[in-house]
Amino acid sequence: MSKPLDLIKAPVATELEAFEGHFREALRSDVSLLDKITYYIVRRKGKQIRPIFVFLSARMFGPCGEATFHAASLVELLHTATLVHDDVVDDSQVRRGFFSINALWKNKIAVLVGDYLLSRGLLLALDHRQYRLLHILSRAVRDMSEGELLQLEKARRLDIAEPVYYDIIRQKTASLIAAACSAGAASMTEDEEAIGRMFAFGEKIGMAFQIKDDLLDFGDEATGKPKGIDIKEKKLTLPLIHALSQTDPGEKRRILRMIRADSEARSTFEEVIRLIREKGGLDYARHKMAQYRQEAFALLHTFPDSPSRQSLEQLVDFVTERSH
Ligand code: IPE
Ligand code: IPE
Ligand code: MG
Ligand code: MG
Repeated sequence: MSKPLDLIKAPVATELEAFEGHFREALRSDVSLLDKITYYIVRRKGKQIRPIFVFLSARMFGPCGEATFHAASLVELLHTATLVHDDVVDDSQVRRGFFSINALWKNKIAVLVGDYLLSRGLLLALDHRQYRLLHILSRAVRDMSEGELLQLEKARRLDIAEPVYYDIIRQKTASLIAAACSAGAASMTEDEEAIGRMFAFGEKIGMAFQIKDDLLDFGDEATGKPKGIDIKEKKLTLPLIHALSQTDPGEKRRILRMIRADSEARSTFEEVIRLIREKGGLDYARHKMAQYRQEAFALLHTFPDSPSRQSLEQLVDFVTERSH
């Protein structure tokens, strides 16, 4: 069992508390509609895994400074922007246990709010002349957009091989967690080699994070997000990709035809789940997730032991064992 997030946060608890104010300030607007929506976002905050990664990564190199706060705010702003857009793209009505922005205010407004959050993030870095930070995060944003588009391209053709799945999740999810870890480190040290190692660590754990998210989409845990939405959106994720690779061509064609014809039907979802169970798709994905976790640990262990390193280890466990 992984430790609860509150214990994991302990070495950076004061920083995270101060971060709340920073983040709220980073969102403030004079346009009342925007202020209403950003107020809603702040109240319905998520796990804040990425700011925790930023602060713990920074803390490994010394006490967190102003630059670390900028990094954490920027990372969470960009994360929030991509979630607001992602729910439009995925046509998803629920986020963090409540209505998504598009569910409450419609797609038009959600698209513009996402752009607004993105631009506030970029300005935050520029206003504080944090060019290094801006560079790290801009690359992540580019990768995330590419990853989501690659995913859409593959969903349209229902064709995806396991290596392409890894490319997609590396770009759409691991890139931002890698950016969080390296930006945290870069806020404290100039040691490029160490910053690079923190990036690699973040990327490994980011891969495990998305495999877990994809597993949760098939599960019955209360995640605060809708279930089975990946199949509905014709997203083939690792459990199904593996199951299909173990299936004879006729049966494979039949399943893919069902998804193509009516991906939203209950019967389609049930057939997919049945196939995944039969072929051990969930266990296979769990196994791959565990491999990424091991690789993340190995990278982390190249740094000296410290309370923040121990918390990062526990955070790796949390990510792979979480139920939401
Ligand atoms: C959701 O991320 C998006 C993915 C990359 C799967 P989180 O699970 O970190 O979302 P919140 O911020 O806690 O809601
Ligand atoms: C990750 O993909 C989304 C982003 C990188 C923004 P998902 O579409 O699986 O994320 P959730 O499940 O909606 O949070
Ligand atoms: Mg989604
Ligand atoms: Mg998902």
